[in-house]
Amino acid sequence: MSGRGEGRMKKRPFIIDCDTGTDDAIAVIAALGCEEICVRAITSVNGNARERDTSRNNRNLIAYLGMQVEVAHGASSPLYPRGEYYDDTHGNSGLGNVVLRDAEEYLYSEDMASEVIRRIAEGEKGDLELLVVGPMTNIAIALTMYPVLKEQIKHIWFMGGAVHGGNITTCAEFNVWVDPAAAQIVLNSGISMTMVGLDVTEQAAMKREDVDELRVCGTKGAVLVADILDYMLERYANGGEDALMHDASALAAAVYPECMDFEPYFVDVECGSPYTAGHTAVDVRGRTGKEPNVNVAVGIRTDEFRQWLKECVRKC
Ligand code: RIB
Ligand code: CA
Repeated sequence: MSGRGEGRMKKRPFIIDCDTGTDDAIAVIAALGCEEICVRAITSVNGNARERDTSRNNRNLIAYLGMQVEVAHGASSPLYPRGEYYDDTHGNSGLGNVVLRDAEEYLYSEDMASEVIRRIAEGEKGDLELLVVGPMTNIAIALTMYPVLKEQIKHIWFMGGAVHGGNITTCAEFNVWVDPAAAQIVLNSGISMTMVGLDVTEQAAMKREDVDELRVCGTKGAVLVADILDYMLERYANGGEDALMHDASALAAAVYPECMDFEPYFVDVECGSPYTAGHTAVDVRGRTGKEPNVNVAVGIRTDEFRQWLKECVRKC
């Protein structure tokens, strides 16, 4: 019989860095419903929408769920000379046609993302993990300003890149394409990391039956995810992207790796040519002679993933 609390596992501390976005929001809700982790902060970055929109979405989401989580502003444009980027894949606000009350009473952190990462990493004494599901600008800034983070961050789980193909150009995935310079800094940092790219996330589509199941469940998180999925499925019916859980797949790699397969590879990022900038060069054939620096997700059992995601969301 273990003593009081002796048997209770310590929750894994996480910071989620995101460009909230529809699938980012679903990943955040799932993370908040995950019993294994403690979300210490949510930091925003320009990507799916302007940073002022991605940060507002994070703040309104946390307020809607009635959670107490530090929400911080982040970079409003990438390190790579592309300028502020956004498009209408996630609608003008970033959350499609889903409208959350503007929780103006909810105060943002006084610190920007890079300082929040530094402060919490120092406090967690080597236990902090990062879930990075947007362009990696904030992480690159933090690592450049505070190199000690390379010893303090336990693991980076990121949605980005691809072994084959791309979704914004023929050879680049969106998150890495927006800021390839930042991705290159992070991938070459020496920090232990896992890449969940399009090879896996393009198989992680939710279905109409999932929406119906979540709506019946009735929790705040489940109903909001059902609303977001409704938007994504309608977008798909009109020729847009499917209800792909790109960002929740990176969370699954961290807390439900059983639904995926991984291989260690050397990975770097192409920044030189405008035609290939953002391409993740994944050395599957060992041609570089370089040691693997990234654990790469190469397969997913989609039905198991879908059930897991709904279980997490139901708890929020
Ligand atoms: O390529 C998919 C990624 O780009 C996801 O993180 C999505 O939210 C967008 O940021
Ligand atoms: Ca994202």
